[in-house]
Amino acid sequence: MDDEAGWIAVCDLDRLKLEAIVRVPGRDLLVIWNEGHVVACERACPHEQADLARGQLTAGRLHCPRHAASFDLRDGSITAGWPSPPLRLYPVRITGGQIWIEAQERQPGR
Ligand code: FES
Repeated sequence: MDDEAGWIAVCDLDRLKLEAIVRVPGRDLLVIWNEGHVVACERACPHEQADLARGQLTAGRLHCPRHAASFDLRDGSITAGWPSPPLRLYPVRITGGQIWIEAQERQPGR
């Protein structure tokens, strides 16, 4: 579901808290329950496009299922030394227990 301002309804916050990582319907994006915060990011690893929906979450980082790199979910930065751009993050809002993301907008400088 899209609204006129370009925000996309993803899922209930309660569902995300249970599942930790939820795919955004119709988009190559994810929402993640990360240490008490909702984070929206691209689904394909920026290194070699592994599916980050199959990644692991530990200590505020999303670990790629293919290689040893991981991403800081506060800013998308990748493990030092990896020849890869950072993970793209997207704006999130929560209204009435529903998670919304703004999928067109990217972080400044990306
Ligand atoms: S594909 Fe994700 S770290 Fe290489």
